[in-house]
Amino acid sequence: MSLKLSVIGCGYLGATHAACMSSLGFEVIGVDTDPDKIAMLSKGELPFYEPGLDTLLAAEIKTGRLTFTTDFSAVADADVHFICVGTPQSKDGLAADLTYVKSAVAAIAPHLKSGSLVVGKSTVPVGTAQGLRDQLAKSSPESDLAWNPEFLREGFAVEDTLTPNRLVVGVTNDRAENILKEVYKPIIDLGTPWIRADLPTSELVKVAANSFLATKISFINAMAEVCEAAGGDVTVLAKAIGYDPRIGNRFLQAGIGFGGGCLPKDIRAFMARAEELGAKQALEFLREIDAINLRARQRVIDVVRTELTDDLTKYTIAVLGAAFKPDSDDVRDSPALDIAAQLQAAGASVVVHDPKAIENARKRFPKLGFAGSVQECVKNADLILHLTEWREYRELDPNSLASLVKRKIIIDGRNALDRDKWREAGWQFHALGRTD
Ligand code: UDX
Repeated sequence: MSLKLSVIGCGYLGATHAACMSSLGFEVIGVDTDPDKIAMLSKGELPFYEPGLDTLLAAEIKTGRLTFTTDFSAVADADVHFICVGTPQSKDGLAADLTYVKSAVAAIAPHLKSGSLVVGKSTVPVGTAQGLRDQLAKSSPESDLAWNPEFLREGFAVEDTLTPNRLVVGVTNDRAENILKEVYKPIIDLGTPWIRADLPTSELVKVAANSFLATKISFINAMAEVCEAAGGDVTVLAKAIGYDPRIGNRFLQAGIGFGGGCLPKDIRAFMARAEELGAKQALEFLREIDAINLRARQRVIDVVRTELTDDLTKYTIAVLGAAFKPDSDDVRDSPALDIAAQLQAAGASVVVHDPKAIENARKRFPKLGFAGSVQECVKNADLILHLTEWREYRELDPNSLASLVKRKIIIDGRNALDRDKWREAGWQFHALGRTD
């Protein structure tokens, strides 16, 4: 008989995992404490924007295999329980806040049937899984706990879940590994690499991967700073070094840096945990990675001040992009929105456009100006800032926008626009890391 699965926490990770596991043929029950979220998901509606997931969710709800509830006792039937709750940055420091993970495990513990396996997918500080396993051993000695980090990218959530580039499982015995092999059989059969690790290594794999990615982005942004100082062009530099397969050309896009719900908080939590473990020095470089990343936001503001004046109070600035990256409506730690808010705090009138993230941006910064179209956004602007590289911005016609703005000045904070096209249309075009 096929295994029954539960998914605890139905945010980005959980909703995706639940729908994808249902699409593999499993009966899945998704549980979340937020009744509004559950009501939407139960109707097959997605509470956030993610390409492809909306149709998958609706289709899986129709099959009857996928259901959602706020009632934790509903997990009693399930054999495998995936913990997919958030681990945000603590309010009072760099460390991860584990409240939701701990309460999720505590909430399901009384309902676990004998032989069931709890599988953590949330990103946690190393050592958490062992602690939870010990706790579970006391409350539900007949169950077991494993860790199975998730590497999905927003915008590619379904693809990354159903065809990941690897599956990593942290287990303490063969039985737990075999249960996970049964769950992931269709994905393993595609030839997906399977890595069995111990619990601490599986937790570390996730934060190590995100630290590496953050480092790559901050590396190219550091090169952008040097290019600006030396009269170079970081886009040409990135292309040239990227041809070396040991370096590779992905994640070398210089600009206003990384944001989102993962990279920034994960590198900070990793530093905090290393310090607790007495390995602080090993991760000191991540402090610099974080600093370079935040400096990129400041550098855009510096260019704005150079182009206009230090006193921004009489200027209107159009900001294209609010999401932390394209194909997402997520504004968590969004560099674009942070820059928009800082410019407004400095006195500028700021109008923001984004194809999907306006609603979330408005919740976060209700006093910013928002526009429903690019044309409305740039109207009478003294300067345009391009901060999230949505495809529709790359396809803009600089000639048609020219008549709408007060001054034809654009700063490309993502190195994604066609500089020649904008210059030919008479625009002053600036980009981070490019001096000419
Ligand atoms: C990331 C990891 O990629 C994923 O594996 C993990 O599971 C969760 O965290 P995500 O947050 O969706 O995924 O975004 P990602 O595509 O990694 O981009 C992160 C940030 O880096 C974005 O703000 C993006 O704009 C920025 N970025 C990315 C750059 O500034 N330059 C680049 O070259 C690439």
